[in-house]
Amino acid sequence: MDSTPRDGATRAGWGSRIGVILAAAGSAVGLGNFLRFPGQAAKHGGGAFMLPYFISLLVLGIPLAWAEWTMGRYAGVRGYHSAPGIFRVLLRHHAAKYLGVVALLIPFIVYTYYVVVEAWCLIYALHYATGDLMRGDDPGQYAAFFGRLTGATAEGSVFGGGDGLTLLGVVALCFALNLYLIVRGLSRGIEAFCKVAIPGLAVLATIVLVRVLLLGTPDPSKPSQSIEAGLGFMWNPRAEALFDPETWLAASGQIFFSLSVGFGVLVHYASYLRKKDDVALSALTANSMNELFEVCLGGLITIPAAFVFLGAIDPGTLESSFKLGFVTLPNVFAMMWGGRVFGFLWFFCLFIAAITSSVSMLQPVMVFFQEGTGMSRRRAAALLGVLCAVGSGIVLYFSKGLVALDTFDFWMGTVGIFVLATVQAVLYGWVFGIERGHEELHRGAHIKVPFVVQIGLKYVVPVYLLVIFAAFCVKNLPGRLEERQPGALVALGFVLAVTALLVKMVRLAERRWEQLEARGLTPGGKVS
Ligand code: ALA
Repeated sequence: MDSTPRDGATRAGWGSRIGVILAAAGSAVGLGNFLRFPGQAAKHGGGAFMLPYFISLLVLGIPLAWAEWTMGRYAGVRGYHSAPGIFRVLLRHHAAKYLGVVALLIPFIVYTYYVVVEAWCLIYALHYATGDLMRGDDPGQYAAFFGRLTGATAEGSVFGGGDGLTLLGVVALCFALNLYLIVRGLSRGIEAFCKVAIPGLAVLATIVLVRVLLLGTPDPSKPSQSIEAGLGFMWNPRAEALFDPETWLAASGQIFFSLSVGFGVLVHYASYLRKKDDVALSALTANSMNELFEVCLGGLITIPAAFVFLGAIDPGTLESSFKLGFVTLPNVFAMMWGGRVFGFLWFFCLFIAAITSSVSMLQPVMVFFQEGTGMSRRRAAALLGVLCAVGSGIVLYFSKGLVALDTFDFWMGTVGIFVLATVQAVLYGWVFGIERGHEELHRGAHIKVPFVVQIGLKYVVPVYLLVIFAAFCVKNLPGRLEERQPGALVALGFVLAVTALLVKMVRLAERRWEQLEARGLTPGGKVS
């Protein structure tokens, strides 16, 4: 394969093996690990959540990640790096490229709200740096701060609530940072950043973890509020949870969101690997790093800390994962010795973790713009920036009750991920084929993966996903379909408009690719 890029094609590649692993881990490690996981675990009874969580990881998460890496490398070697191109290589059918639209839509839409939460984290970190967030032990103060900052409690939009301009400015800063990283290129931007950010995150989060584990029993008059009790809450398994479908739904949704599986990211990242680059061990290593951050840092910091200071967490008081992270934890930091420093470190960690993920959501869409139209990286990034700004603008404008954010998160960050994961499982198991998959997975592999994983991918994963998805729809769709709030309707309208745009672009891209192929070329170069 001659990889000489031609005709405005996408010139890129990973610089090193550790680089690609850290970039994939960077995509995985994010707000999902530090905010969403503790929130979900606490809401579903701590230890009751962990068993379905680990089963989902082993049965769905890791096998699907292997499938994504394998298919991505396969298509990348054949010259395509964007989801519509990748799906077209995998499934030689004229409709295949449209499946790729889902794999662009998910990272695009998730980015539009994720970057806003990224900005909240930076603002919280700055407020700790100035000491402004050490407001004593009145829980109402922190809830009020969060409501004002995010506009969740504003009468109209965040712009009517006082802090809107600050938030807008910080969101713009986050946009600039993300766009800067993708314009620098895969290796010099994302990879270089993740090589520093991931080890840095591990160090910062470990410092906070040690501080939390040293809390002991701060108030001897309340012996049940100890670190041991908090750890027990998180780790003592409860068999009855196995019979609660809701816990399974939450656990599998968390695994997908957290590993960035079914997100359109891993399949894209893997497309830059060479034919004999290892995927088996690299994917496993990136997933293991994610679990380390999620369970051993995110979960072990937040849940025991909240438990020590506030007592048993009542799931009924956790309307969202945001409450545990942005309202409960600041209470904890306020009561803790050194709380200002640890509060700063914690929210700065969240901010860095968020960037390594948000940048991975922009990259696949930017590359599609390049690969599909031949436009330069800068122009593709500029177009993407403008489109995403409209989406984030909707999130900010319809801030009351976080309705637009919640709509995007429901339809793309949850439903979309289930759909794409199912499509990919079926594509891999039934079209690509598990024999071919097994052979491809082991090309250049540094470990041997038992064939039973392939059998699971073909038979167990699609059924598991369809059952969970059906249960999810029965439980959640009726309420959602009755949603009439303007913010939700505008957000849905935006999703449809972006879908229409992407479909149109995919049609144009197909024409371009056919012309290239007629000359023996692909967007990635000349295939020999
Ligand atoms: N995987 C990313 C996270 O967990 C999206 O935040």
